[in-house]
Amino acid sequence: MTGRQTSQWQPVCNRTSLLAGQFIEFSLAGAGSGVTKSADTLPQRGFVFLDGTTPRAYLNQCPHTGIELNWMPGRFMDTDNLFIQCSTHGALFKPGDGECIAGPCQGDALTTLDVRENGEMLEVRLPE
Ligand code: FES
Repeated sequence: MTGRQTSQWQPVCNRTSLLAGQFIEFSLAGAGSGVTKSADTLPQRGFVFLDGTTPRAYLNQCPHTGIELNWMPGRFMDTDNLFIQCSTHGALFKPGDGECIAGPCQGDALTTLDVRENGEMLEVRLPE
């Protein structure tokens, strides 16, 4: 097979179970089925949360080194609860678009996942 099977929508949680301030983590089905060994063969992880009332999802991957952003489950925000923060080197990302506004990857951005509501479920996929 060629290409990655990453454009499939996959359910991640019930819409009503996603509460303000809550981050739900998931593995992307089919992602990382890849090309090379090591990190590319591991399932890619993501997280979904409410930005105001809008559900948003990103890959859980700091653009700086590719490692996961959080060191505690479900904890992604800085102490002021304003920005998503990489726990390793402290880069700050805007929740609305994933842009890094401070840190070693300033000007770069988190990888945005597509999010949709399908019935009661929130579904995500890697953008095509
Ligand atoms: S790995 Fe996140 S800022 Fe360096």
